[in-house]
Amino acid sequence: MTAPPGSQSTPPTSAPPDPRDPLGLAADAPLLDAWLRFTGQGEAGELLPMSVPGHKQRQDLVGAVIRGDAPLYGGLDAIKHADALLSGAEARAAALWGADWCRFSVAGSTHGNQALTLAVGQPGQEVIITRTLHRSLLLALVLAGLRPVWVRPEIDPRTSLPGPVPVQAVKDALTEHPSACAVILGDPSYVGTTGNLSGHAEVAHAAGVPLVVDAAWAAHLGFHPDLPPHAIAAGADAMVTSAHKALPAYTQGALVLARTERLDAARLNRAFEATHTTSPTGSIMASIDAARALLARDGERLCGRLLRGVAAARRRLREVPGLDVLDGPTVEPTKLIVLLAGTGANGYAVEADLIRQGMPMEMADRDTLGPIPTIADDEVQIAAFTEALIATIERHRGTPRQPVAAPAWTVQPQTVLAPREAFFAANETVSADAAIGRVSAELIAPYPPGVPVLAPGELVTTEAVTALREIKADGGRIAYAADPSLATFQVVCR
Ligand SMILES: Cc1ncc(COP(=O)(O)O)c(C=O)c1O
Repeated sequence: MTAPPGSQSTPPTSAPPDPRDPLGLAADAPLLDAWLRFTGQGEAGELLPMSVPGHKQRQDLVGAVIRGDAPLYGGLDAIKHADALLSGAEARAAALWGADWCRFSVAGSTHGNQALTLAVGQPGQEVIITRTLHRSLLLALVLAGLRPVWVRPEIDPRTSLPGPVPVQAVKDALTEHPSACAVILGDPSYVGTTGNLSGHAEVAHAAGVPLVVDAAWAAHLGFHPDLPPHAIAAGADAMVTSAHKALPAYTQGALVLARTERLDAARLNRAFEATHTTSPTGSIMASIDAARALLARDGERLCGRLLRGVAAARRRLREVPGLDVLDGPTVEPTKLIVLLAGTGANGYAVEADLIRQGMPMEMADRDTLGPIPTIADDEVQIAAFTEALIATIERHRGTPRQPVAAPAWTVQPQTVLAPREAFFAANETVSADAAIGRVSAELIAPYPPGVPVLAPGELVTTEAVTALREIKADGGRIAYAADPSLATFQVVCR
């Protein structure tokens, strides 16, 4: 990376390795290099910034909580040069994923989903989109004013978990809705099932529309021969992925990547900027850059280690009576989804026990556990977690039961109003009983997985209310409800 003229950014020199960059990634990561320099100056007391952030790199007021925080603009580089520094880093990521447009987000895949949805159509247009979508995509429909045509994954009767969305379902939807502006899918699903993305790309392109993929969990895909290709390689026009989920990047770091044959780069930029902060933190940006450099250099080795660790964990878990794991050709091989029902243990109790042992997991419901091993974990760590998990499950054993599909996967909404119309409509708060048969003004999602069970514009049904109450009673988190007790609901005024 050549620093732009006048830039503060200094190319890496033969200086001794910086212990804050133990793998020497800065040589291929311009934002990381700039972050190391700026924060190094701050820690050495060499800065007297008369610019934001207001902490001025001093830790004598709020303390160490601001350590490492450096703004992109006026920190990693002078305000007038930081865009060039950032573009250089984003271009490296675009090249790595085979895209021709890339932006780094400090607001997660949530922001990436908003940006891509704002870039594909016009208010009032239809979009083919999976209903097992993350809430960020549903609210992106509100922002963009798009009208959803839902497609749904198949539910595996053995596990009660969602599989991929069939290509035929997307093809049929495109035939029935020829003026739809795009196809938006989530792949891999929250439980790691992957679909035929190249098939989806083919039918979308035959209909003349782009395929956009929420690949929040899949930043590592495509970086080992035993992993499925990432969405761009499979033919998608755009994908969003959380660098902070699968890669060793700061929380909130995400990448939005696109090919601009069917999407317009200027429109993508407008949509991205419309919903992004004007003060991105350089530490998140630098960590995305560093994670990209790591993936480019060591991705295959680290993914190989993860694949071996997860394969061993799956084998070991299967040896335990009653325990099973999600597996098979449509399951992303680094995903570890543990099926508990046959042990009778309650997933919420197992999760609470593991938290007490210092081992929080990404996801737990009554029948399913979703720990997230990443390329940061080695085989020894994954094996240690697996043994602790087994011992914990043994403590909670009970009577084996049939798994029940979570309502997030089975919800069959009746969309009466477009999400945007319902979101902005006059609304009132009524009792749960009175809400049945009315149109929801609010989005309510058990989290994780963050898939809405009720969304703006959908009929409130007895099934939805009962399912939400059951999850709450089991100890699940019901997110975003105006009344978290679920005694009342916000519905559109008649
Ligand atoms: C499928 C999916 N998409 C998007 C997101 C949002 O990602 P982020 O938390 O990075 O904003 C999530 C979060 O869990 C998710 O599961």
